[in-house]
Amino acid sequence: MIQIQIINGPNLNLTGIREPQIYGSESFDDYFLKLRKEFPEVALHYFQTNHEGEIIDKLHEVGFSYHGIIMNPAAYSHYSYAIADAVSAIKTPVIEVHISDVTNREDFRKNLITGQNCLKIISGMGLDGYRMAVQELLLV
Ligand code: DQA
Repeated sequence: MIQIQIINGPNLNLTGIREPQIYGSESFDDYFLKLRKEFPEVALHYFQTNHEGEIIDKLHEVGFSYHGIIMNPAAYSHYSYAIADAVSAIKTPVIEVHISDVTNREDFRKNLITGQNCLKIISGMGLDGYRMAVQELLLV
């Protein structure tokens, strides 16, 4: 079975509660159940952490055996060279997803450090961006 890992970074455990006008009112757990049903042929794995090193550890863990990784490093996207290096270090393609449109918010969010080393960046599509990322990875 095709293995795809979703990695969500800091504060994304509060999706659905946190700033719903920006991130929507659906929890990621509820969305993830729907996503799994939509792709029964894919083994979808979900990991969320508020810690930078744990994102890197997960990239190392799955990044030599899984088919694809969908990563939303949240605020780390804008300044983590360590996560960017980890993306380059592994073999598995990574698609970066942002729920909000980071190109149309504060200036610091326009700085996409980790995304530079990813196959693609999907931004501003809401949670649907994760579904689009699975579809893209199935074409790789
Ligand atoms: C985010 C955008 C980031 O700028 C922000 O720090 C987040 C979430 C998004 O999914 O839109 O926490 O990655």
